[in-house]
Amino acid sequence: MNILILGGGGREHALAWAVVQNPKCDRLIVAPGNAGIARVAECAELDIEDSGAVVEFAEAQTVDFVIIGPEAPLAAGVADALRDAGILTFGPSQAAAQLEASKGFTKAVCDAANAPTAAYAKFDEPEPARAYIREQGAPIVVKADGLAAGKGVIVAMTEEEALAAIDDMFGGEFGAAGAEVVIEEFMEGEEASFFVLCDGENALPIGTAQDHKRVFDGDEGPNTGGMGAYSPAPVLTDAIVERAMAEIIRPTLAEMARRGTPYQGVLYAGFMIKDDQARLVEYNCRFGDPECQVLMMRLGGQVLDLLQAAAEGRLAEASVNWSDDHAMTVVMAAKGYPGAYEKGTVIAGLDDLPESATQMCFHAGTRTEGGKVLANGGRVLNLTARGASLQEARDRAYAMVEDLDWPDGFCRSDIGWRALGQASD
Ligand code: AMP
Ligand code: GLY
Repeated sequence: MNILILGGGGREHALAWAVVQNPKCDRLIVAPGNAGIARVAECAELDIEDSGAVVEFAEAQTVDFVIIGPEAPLAAGVADALRDAGILTFGPSQAAAQLEASKGFTKAVCDAANAPTAAYAKFDEPEPARAYIREQGAPIVVKADGLAAGKGVIVAMTEEEALAAIDDMFGGEFGAAGAEVVIEEFMEGEEASFFVLCDGENALPIGTAQDHKRVFDGDEGPNTGGMGAYSPAPVLTDAIVERAMAEIIRPTLAEMARRGTPYQGVLYAGFMIKDDQARLVEYNCRFGDPECQVLMMRLGGQVLDLLQAAAEGRLAEASVNWSDDHAMTVVMAAKGYPGAYEKGTVIAGLDDLPESATQMCFHAGTRTEGGKVLANGGRVLNLTARGASLQEARDRAYAMVEDLDWPDGFCRSDIGWRALGQASD
């Protein structure tokens, strides 16, 4: 099987690493890829948001199966174009990807599906939005409707903050993404992520994880794309997962099918957990990054069979071969991230790192030049390990951090604190 993965971050390195382990994979191309991906696959230059270019490339390379990593090509309809051209594709249609691309759309689907989530109201003008905030009081959550690179959500602890967020959003701070605004009840609890493969009709859970969004130890500092993750997330017990499948996931899939836009791909549900119940915070229509890295570490080569079964509508007959293990990934970022940071600094020590079924350094933003690996983004490396316990996975991941020689990078030292029962400071 010739396989094409679209994307070039740590998520796609982890997907590529898992997919090439499956004997069904004859040839793997990743576009655009990065320096780490180039060690396991061919990398190709391609504008992955240009449907025509992606279809042409896939046809020219006789690709049998395309796996779409990030949300931008999904929101641009690349999966539709590939399927129209008769190419098997893992990833939702543009219409189904609305579950991530529009917060208002997701809330409407939840209403129809009767899925537990925060109470909300939607506004396209500032004055009624302000009146609603004054009426509801704080804390309250203000969200730009559209994709805003993870920055369109303001959790306002005071009314003033919420009103300022309204001014920013309707003032154009988030461009078209902020033309409509969703205002939500503030939900208390512990957050965790849940990943489900979907084939339009059936849903197959493939794991739970917890991310660390803040940049510094102790969950301090600004939000990032994620500084580390581990799987499984102990807060998502089997009982909570079962209930969430019955109350949230399956009703969502049924509602999407009823609307004529069945959901095929991975559904990444962000849950808020309190009193043994999950409520939906948000959906994403792709794997989380860096959550994907820990899921791939745990699932390995079977991932290709599972993604293919989802794309072919055969999930009813698929099952996950679980092992009773734990995985952790620690993100190394360029100093300054998520603010301004330097690109092009040299990363040494990579050749000394182990590459095995239990320890991998997935590359996020890297490139090679003159035989050296250079940092090429904010989040740069994902030191990922598996173990019989979370502590063992943690020790293996941080041992790799110690072996790296990259003075211009940093990481959090407390990934996993919640599950390991450590203090966060
Ligand atoms: P989202 O992009 O919708 O996931 O929001 C980003 C983050 O904001 C979430 O991961 C939560 O930490 C927080 N958040 C979003 N909605 C709510 C809510 N209704 N109540 C509490 N926190 C929220
Ligand atoms: N790590 C969060 C995300 O991928 O959205």
